[in-house]
Amino acid sequence: MKIATVILAAGQGTRMRSSLPKVLHPLAGKPMIHYSIETVRSVTGQSPVVVIGHGADMVEKVIGDVAQCVVQHPQLGTAHAVQTAAPRLAGNSELLLVTAADMPLISPQTYQRLIETQKNNPGPVTMLSVELPDPHGFGRVVRKADGTVECIVEEAQATPEQLKIRELNTAIYCFNAKWLWSVLPLIKVSPKGEYYLTDTIGIATAAGLAVQAIRLEDPEEAIGINTRVHLAEAEAVLRRRINQRWMIEGVTIVDPATTYIGADVQIGQDTVLWPNTYLRGKTIIGCNCTIGPNTLIEDCQIGDDCTILATVMEQAVVENHVEIGPFGHLRKGAHLAEGVHMGNFGEVKNSYLGPGVKMGHFSYIGDATIGKDVNIGAGTITCNFDGVRKHKTVIGENTFIGSDTMLVAPLNIGANAKTGAGAVVTHDVPDNTVVVGVPAKPLRKVTEEKDRAQNGTR
Ligand code: UD1
Ligand code: CA
Repeated sequence: MKIATVILAAGQGTRMRSSLPKVLHPLAGKPMIHYSIETVRSVTGQSPVVVIGHGADMVEKVIGDVAQCVVQHPQLGTAHAVQTAAPRLAGNSELLLVTAADMPLISPQTYQRLIETQKNNPGPVTMLSVELPDPHGFGRVVRKADGTVECIVEEAQATPEQLKIRELNTAIYCFNAKWLWSVLPLIKVSPKGEYYLTDTIGIATAAGLAVQAIRLEDPEEAIGINTRVHLAEAEAVLRRRINQRWMIEGVTIVDPATTYIGADVQIGQDTVLWPNTYLRGKTIIGCNCTIGPNTLIEDCQIGDDCTILATVMEQAVVENHVEIGPFGHLRKGAHLAEGVHMGNFGEVKNSYLGPGVKMGHFSYIGDATIGKDVNIGAGTITCNFDGVRKHKTVIGENTFIGSDTMLVAPLNIGANAKTGAGAVVTHDVPDNTVVVGVPAKPLRKVTEEKDRAQNGTR
């Protein structure tokens, strides 16, 4: 049976008290709207139609091409919202799944169960209900004496007796599509001036048609986001789900309560995450790494067998067997090749450090390309900015940069060269040449005997 999906996301979300549309508030680093879209896509294999309204331009941009958008303006209620999608969908499918973007925790299994139940239902709709100790804010599911569903009553219209009902409407349904399109125009405006989708349930039962209601097995899935308190509750559930998933996959998380892993992060087996670690964005981490404590990594690629301690990294690439920290900072475009050692208080931006480079202490490397096995002495700085433009520094293989060297870019230093401690290098240095002083001048050629024991810092 062909299934189409409508996700309702046009509401203002007033109770968030935010200039950001509600459905764009992030959960585990990803805008809320993406959760319902991804889940229904995984279940139905189809892109949903998303009904947008409040902040439509912003929301549409974030949705991109993973779903089609229709704009509901003005927003006259949930039935009106579904009606807005009719030009895109009417006649296209046998079943119509309706869900809301502010219910991001509903699992694929739940949607699956709802769809399967409706496939076997001779009647026109299956709805998803939940039992919660605190029913506040939900429509109540009213059942007849024989236990079948009669209707849904919104909180504002409910009698004191009905307010006591603990079976609640999640606002997620699977409809016989043809039936839904035929009854939507029959819905009358509510005392609040809105057209309620919940009225379809009463319309069905009044016509003697069977309404199925399945209950959520895990009430946690029903957390709907209306306030930032709910947002934090949902965040906690997602974080626990994500952490558990990685532990099952073979990642050690020493303290899940203080480990924050984004929804789209990947982590290899036998990697250990120490407390207070944040892995964000499209970060990919290999196997056998030790990350943290106190580390923040965003949009980075990290190879196998790396150790990263108390470090902040963004948009960087790190190959295998790299050690960073404590207190490293890798910025956009940093690329550390295999076996690089970067000790405390180093910063690297837009630079390639070749295999085996050692950069032990207090250095800034920006806009540089550094050859294999170069030693960067303590306190070395690439002076890459002249106040107007950025300039490049290139250093050849095996070169030894003495402690506290200032590399005034643009600058080319050859292979097997050396700079003396405290040198301020303003001119290119040929291969096999030792330079010293301020400004640095060639002193002599590098010779085997004299230079075997290098007197830098390691
Ligand atoms: C709705 C249900 C209620 C249910 C609750 C569960 C109705 C009338 N009530 O109430 O029975 O218990 O959800 O959370 O359906 N929306 C639009 N366009 C509109 C109005 C709303 O797209 O014109 C969207 C909202 O953005 C939201 C969803 O529909 O994603 C639900 O709307 P909301 O106003 O939050 O309904 P509730 O009062 O929560
Ligand atoms: Ca709601």
